[in-house]
Amino acid sequence: MTDQYAVIGNPIGHTKSPLIHGLFAQETQQDMTYTAIEGPISPQEAFAETVNTFRAAGGKGMNVTAPFKLKAFAMADDRSERAELAGAANALRFENGRIVAENFDGVGLVRDIEVNLHLPMAGKRVLVLGAGGAMRGALLPFLAARPAELVIANRNVSKAEALVAQVGVRASLLACGYGDLEAMRRFDLVVNATSASLTGELPPVPPNVFNPEGAAYELAYGKGLTPFLRLARNAGVLGIADGVGMLVEQAAEAFAWWRGIRPQTRSVIDQLTVPLD
Ligand code: ATR
Repeated sequence: MTDQYAVIGNPIGHTKSPLIHGLFAQETQQDMTYTAIEGPISPQEAFAETVNTFRAAGGKGMNVTAPFKLKAFAMADDRSERAELAGAANALRFENGRIVAENFDGVGLVRDIEVNLHLPMAGKRVLVLGAGGAMRGALLPFLAARPAELVIANRNVSKAEALVAQVGVRASLLACGYGDLEAMRRFDLVVNATSASLTGELPPVPPNVFNPEGAAYELAYGKGLTPFLRLARNAGVLGIADGVGMLVEQAAEAFAWWRGIRPQTRSVIDQLTVPLD
């Protein structure tokens, strides 16, 4: 029987996941279908019921997007370490009657930065703006990439400090407020992991953080030159990128986890890329 997968979210009309996984399946010749499901927001238990119905009908796995990542994590029987730290799942696998939760957002981001954009993070100074769900998902993969220094700046500093405390205080990891950035040396990579760009806002980041020879990465995808990317460009940064590569790479991670075969990502990224300006 053809194996079934789906992405669940609400709203879900905008999702690129069926297209991405359809291209992956074609390329790797996998006998599978991948659909989009609009999950129910209420009542509370309706999300889990929808997942279980899909599973009972033979579903093998799901991607999970907003606003269900926390609920998906909560209903799992087994959870990866990075899903634990994020407190959120973006992928589920159904096996032997159990639900396994993973979070590939951070690994997808690191892979896009290091492999596609050719920016190995080892030994580099990295600044991440934001300490919400996106950063929680990225923290362990970022640390595994061994930057010389990883600074997490957030308006609410205690949220960034709590994140640092959760993975263990170490010299190369620092939580701070935006005001503290003015006195710091510039960074090789600045990542905007806040949700500011979704509303066209700019995190209060001083332009001195940018290194013209470094790079700036916007997690949001398809929003063109966001205020953050514009600021970086005005500061002379040539290497600017949005989250299209991360979107495709996290999908490839989930695909490999489900199917045991890693798809090519380059042509899919090219197909989905929306020019920044
Ligand atoms: P989620 O966990 O769902 O990602 P969140 O916890 O609200 O959502 O996280 C959003 C992140 O974007 C937070 O780091 C938030 O900063 P605060 O924790 O200080 O609120 C950040 N954020 C949102 N809008 C912002 C803005 N205009 N400027 C700077 N940071 C912003």
